[in-house]
Amino acid sequence: MVTREYINELKINNIGVLYKLIQEQKDNGSTLLFLLESLGRLPSDFDGKNLTFLLENRNAQVRFWVVKNLGKLRDTSYLEIISKVAKNDPDSTVRREAVSSIGRMHSSKAIPLLIEMLNDLDPKIVLQVIRALLVFKSNIMVKEELKKLSNHPNEMIQSVIQKEFFPRKMTSGSSIKHTKCPDFMKNVVVQGDVRDILKDVPDESIHLTFTSPPYYNARDYSIYQSYKKYLDFLASVFKQIYRITKEGRFFILNTSPVIIPRISRQHSSKRYPIPFDIHPYLVQMGWEFIDDIIWAKPEASVKNRNAGFLQHRKPLAYKPNPLTEYIMVYRKKTDKLLDWNIRRYNWGTVKQSKVLGDYETSNVWKIDPTFDKVHSAVFPIELCNRVIKFYSYKGDLVFDPFAGSGTLGKAAMKLERYFFLTEKEERYVERIKQELGNKLLFDKEELHILNIESFQELAKRRIR
Ligand SMILES: C[S@@+](CC[C@H](N)C(=O)[O-])C[C@H]1O[C@@H](n2cnc3c(N)ncnc32)[C@H](O)[C@@H]1O
Repeated sequence: MVTREYINELKINNIGVLYKLIQEQKDNGSTLLFLLESLGRLPSDFDGKNLTFLLENRNAQVRFWVVKNLGKLRDTSYLEIISKVAKNDPDSTVRREAVSSIGRMHSSKAIPLLIEMLNDLDPKIVLQVIRALLVFKSNIMVKEELKKLSNHPNEMIQSVIQKEFFPRKMTSGSSIKHTKCPDFMKNVVVQGDVRDILKDVPDESIHLTFTSPPYYNARDYSIYQSYKKYLDFLASVFKQIYRITKEGRFFILNTSPVIIPRISRQHSSKRYPIPFDIHPYLVQMGWEFIDDIIWAKPEASVKNRNAGFLQHRKPLAYKPNPLTEYIMVYRKKTDKLLDWNIRRYNWGTVKQSKVLGDYETSNVWKIDPTFDKVHSAVFPIELCNRVIKFYSYKGDLVFDPFAGSGTLGKAAMKLERYFFLTEKEERYVERIKQELGNKLLFDKEELHILNIESFQELAKRRIR
């Protein structure tokens, strides 16, 4: 039986037997594949010609492993044969591996072929070709050819070229350091319409926003004339949030589809898929979609819609109980990797902010809902805790534009982040006042409840 140990042994002591073994196995798919996959690091005198005949093999996986092994040799004498595979193999994965093998050669002889392959219709091939060509990006011809792809129809290709050759300048205008935020916004609650309040918030002053906006007309605290007007309203707020969010930081939106009940038995109720309808607006304004997290509640805690179906069991009338809400995670567009954001913080802050112990590893967060006497749709504190811990650092400023009873502020305070909350209803702001009180915070900050006028005044002076 051919084992990995035996292959290793042959590689070192009897390479001729290994070549023979490969040739004998040519029709036996599984053993041949095992052999090719197990070759690992090849000896410097390995003769690739003992593999090239397999490039005609019917099994794409065999061809893939042959190309991969030839690539390990980094020998330009195989350039021609691998180029043929890159251009003509019927399987895209094999072609991609061929381009990668050519890339590994780091040979300028491959440049003309690679440039030709930039026209390939498969974007994954083009991306692999770009990767191989970037090694020669100081070569003027290569640079010019790559730059031409800035208008390529594929968005991934566009973004790689943008980042490499046309790095975006953030339109910051803000002089505040990435880890800092304006003092006059720390632990502040402003009562009023968020759209008016945000006009006075400086660009790039927020590290994280987590919010649950009004649920269209499903609850009584907000009334919108139409669904379109509601979405436009949300979009106008989220656009401002984009402006005030720091480069590469997160906006996390909790919504779920809602039902507006029917007016009588002669009519149907209507279901509005808010998370799906608002998503295109967010992407359009520059938010990068990162993740969708499902908040799952216990079935006993939600309204039962099954009574009818349970009785009659007639298809089409099935109505599942909605246990879930969406926690959609977006990031402000940037060319920079997350690591750049993390490196803005000093070692001590990174250490203190680490998420230690058990944590939820999946995108399904099972959390009981919270019911409140004063507000009909409050966040469970656990939801805020998770979002704050996973998406911000100690000392950051977290924002909830639709603060309700201020749950996010409460969690932020405990987790040693600053908060900035806006809420239009006086009774809820009263609630925030009771909840957060005038407690002394971790660094002896106080809670500041302001109306729009006093906030505007502070913003003007930018002091406290
Ligand atoms: C779903 S609730 C948020 C509840 C909150 N997450 C909590 O834990 O209590 C939405 C809140 O947005 C507020 N709101 C609606 N329109 C607003 C606006 N234009 N400006 C500020 N707040 C608004 C409502 O009064 C309501 O309290």
